Amino acid sequence: MREIKPGVFLIDVQDPERRVFDSLFPTDRGTTYNSYLVKGEKVALIDTADPSKKDEFARELSKVDRIDYIISNHSEQDHSGLIPFVLEKFPNAKVIATKKGREFLTDLLGLKDENFIEASELDLGGKTLRFIEFPWAHWPETMVTYLVEDGILFSCDVFGSHYAFSDIWYDDEAYEYAKEYYAEIMMPFRTIIANDLKKLDELDIKMICPSHGPLHKDPEKIISMYKDWTSNEAKRETTVLYVSMHNSTKIAVEKLSGDLVGKVNVVDISKGISMLKYLVDADTLVIATPTALGDAHPLMLFASSIISAYRPKIKRVAFVVLYEWGTRADKTLEGIFKNYEIVDTIRIRGKPSDSDFESIKKLAENLNKR
Ligand SMILES: Cc1cc2nc3c(=O)[nH]c(=O)nc-3n(C[C@H](O)[C@H](O)[C@H](O)COP(=O)(O)O)c2cc1C
Ligand SMILES: [Fe+2]
Ligand SMILES: [Fe+2]
Repeated sequence: MREIKPGVFLIDVQDPERRVFDSLFPTDRGTTYNSYLVKGEKVALIDTADPSKKDEFARELSKVDRIDYIISNHSEQDHSGLIPFVLEKFPNAKVIATKKGREFLTDLLGLKDENFIEASELDLGGKTLRFIEFPWAHWPETMVTYLVEDGILFSCDVFGSHYAFSDIWYDDEAYEYAKEYYAEIMMPFRTIIANDLKKLDELDIKMICPSHGPLHKDPEKIISMYKDWTSNEAKRETTVLYVSMHNSTKIAVEKLSGDLVGKVNVVDISKGISMLKYLVDADTLVIATPTALGDAHPLMLFASSIISAYRPKIKRVAFVVLYEWGTRADKTLEGIFKNYEIVDTIRIRGKPSDSDFESIKKLAENLNKR
């Protein structure tokens, strides 16, 4: 437990060994589950930790002699899962959540009506907590908590990162992880989150304390990043996603990326599902895939269905399909991305030949016109 402001304590449960989140996304820098204690005359605990780290959390909690309120910004179990444990130790503590949050905590954790009180603001005696609904970040029930006297925003998943730390403040590398976190967790709801963010304009925020990763002492920086990421403004950036079994697709992709101007991200998706961060800013997506089992490579089908569900701000797509005896990959991809402008689809039989390189060059010329 570390005191970050007089009467405000960070309980950072570090999980540096964790390698995957939501059974999907790689977390090569591990993660943390941050909760916070705010002490006025009464004491509030904001969020808890993942149940897999109960022992570490319990060790910290053993240093606490009273908790009057438990603030649950988000019902997902990595933050709420130890609320029942806190209630065992402090049975009179009252839980505060949004209306939907209350339903979710009841369903997910078996909390009872008598565990809750309703409040939009809470006076702890010297410290005032204000609860601000912040829906769809990234569940429908989410809120953030603002500590009025200190100008601290407790934002739970918003502005967070999967980044185990020793220094509690953001560094340049951690911002990269914040972008990845945004892409994988928040991006599907970006238009709603863009609206939520407007609510923060009225607050005098001096520090942001998320529930994963380090803390922000420069709130403006991460808030303006989020405003940029959630906006409809795309950058002149092309992301080329590919998979290649025997290098033919890779050869085609190397040629294409050499012909493209501006920022180009070339991502081999067989290395793991970490392509979403390359779709936060890009205005153009190219998918290059060999045919396997008559269709796009299964990994590309998987990636494509994730991408269409995430609705990134890309404006245009193009496809490069390799095959040998027959393929429906082009039709499948065009169907998945039917809501986007499809610039072109190239079909290449076998290893790319000089005439294929010509087609790739033409595709690049088309994509370079913006
Ligand atoms: C496991 C496997 C399955 C394949 N299935 C098909 C297929 O159903 N239809 C087809 O036209 N080509 C099929 N191919 C041929 C590849 O699509 C073609 O050789 C392509 O150029 C391979 O690109 P790559 O070297 O980037 O993997 C298959 C190849 C492999 C290795
Ligand atoms: Fe979450
Ligand atoms: Fe979380």
